[in-house]
Amino acid sequence: MLMRAPLDPQQLVVGRRPGHTLEGAFYTSPEIFALDLEAIFAKHWIFVGAEPEVPEPGDFISRDIGRDSIIIVRGDDGAVHAHFNVCRHRGARLLTSDRGTVGKLVCPYHQWTYELSGDLIHAPQMGDHFDRSCHGLNRVHLRSTEGLLFVCLADVPPADIDEMACVMAPRLAPHELRNTKVARQTDLIEEGNWKLTMENNRECYHCAGNHPELSASYSKFSVGFAPDPGDEAEVAAAAAYAAEEERLLAEWEARGLPSLPIEVMTGRPTGFRTQRLVIDGAGESHTADTKIACRRLLGNLTDPRLGDLHFWTQPNSWHHIFSDHAVTFAVFPLAADRTLLRTTWLVHKDAVEGVDYDVDRLTSVWRVTNEQDAALVELAQRGAGSRGYRPGPYSPLTEGLVDQFTTWYVERVAAHLEGTR
Ligand code: FES
Ligand SMILES: [Fe+2]
Repeated sequence: MLMRAPLDPQQLVVGRRPGHTLEGAFYTSPEIFALDLEAIFAKHWIFVGAEPEVPEPGDFISRDIGRDSIIIVRGDDGAVHAHFNVCRHRGARLLTSDRGTVGKLVCPYHQWTYELSGDLIHAPQMGDHFDRSCHGLNRVHLRSTEGLLFVCLADVPPADIDEMACVMAPRLAPHELRNTKVARQTDLIEEGNWKLTMENNRECYHCAGNHPELSASYSKFSVGFAPDPGDEAEVAAAAAYAAEEERLLAEWEARGLPSLPIEVMTGRPTGFRTQRLVIDGAGESHTADTKIACRRLLGNLTDPRLGDLHFWTQPNSWHHIFSDHAVTFAVFPLAADRTLLRTTWLVHKDAVEGVDYDVDRLTSVWRVTNEQDAALVELAQRGAGSRGYRPGPYSPLTEGLVDQFTTWYVERVAAHLEGTR
């Protein structure tokens, strides 16, 4: 009988070939999946949703991150709190639905009752000496970056989220995400490892061949394609695009909208990238015709042509924020070969459906793009499980950010294995 050699993650990490995809086990092995939950998802800042998902006191969402369920709830004081979804009596799960509204958090088992802030206020039959103040819900670290919610399950979360918040606050502020509402949210299960979902997001090498709808918004020169030096028309088109991009970035910057790229994707726990991307032609938004989908613009914005404020975070999110709406994407690993992609479209809270926007038009590009991406991720997953799979080379011209994702991942797993993080 053939014995499988034990998997040595340390060896796999040390043996990573720079500029290449990971060994197949990183995408298929349940042991590595368990390691990912500990090394990555239990130790870093994880994007879980946006404040408008819990607009009023008592509104909650719950999110599963590996084996942990987290409650995000808006308190009576208007602040958002994050708690482990675990009763302090005998550990029962408090909330079993993934969203709703409650007055208090009441455990279904023996009715211990908690304030939305997590304080225990009622615990029947516990005797005179029981100290309720010692039995509040265990808190989860929570940060809201202009309405985008990040949690960290670690006792001591990475402090470098402060730098990310510092960069992103002035960029996000004009779009006033806290003053939006959820127009639509979709959950898509991708039949692939979460890292394949992320790698796929970090390049547009595949866009021209797979995303006709999304490609209406992007010049191929905006996503890393080098023009063929022998093709004069292509060289001229690339130069024209570069000039227009420079002009628009300078114009946005001059109007107080920080737009230039900031990219710190490796060498730190809280890696991120941001830039105000140009939408091709006179494009305004990610819609079928690249025009705005919502007449009521975000915040107090008046100019529909503000490009695509993109924001990527390691390890699990990306965001596109336009003048008229925002789309957030959160990735949650379910198994070595299954991943949940949650997509949320936000519009101004005063926008009226059917008057200011049509939900189908608002969501059409990313709904179909997500489906196309899910099919590609599934194909990659199938290949990674084959004995014919070998780590393949990333394109140095257009897959640099995929390489940075994989490099960040390897750095963070190595830090975990070394016990330095
Ligand atoms: S387990 Fe929650 S009240 Fe008993
Ligand atoms: Fe894609």
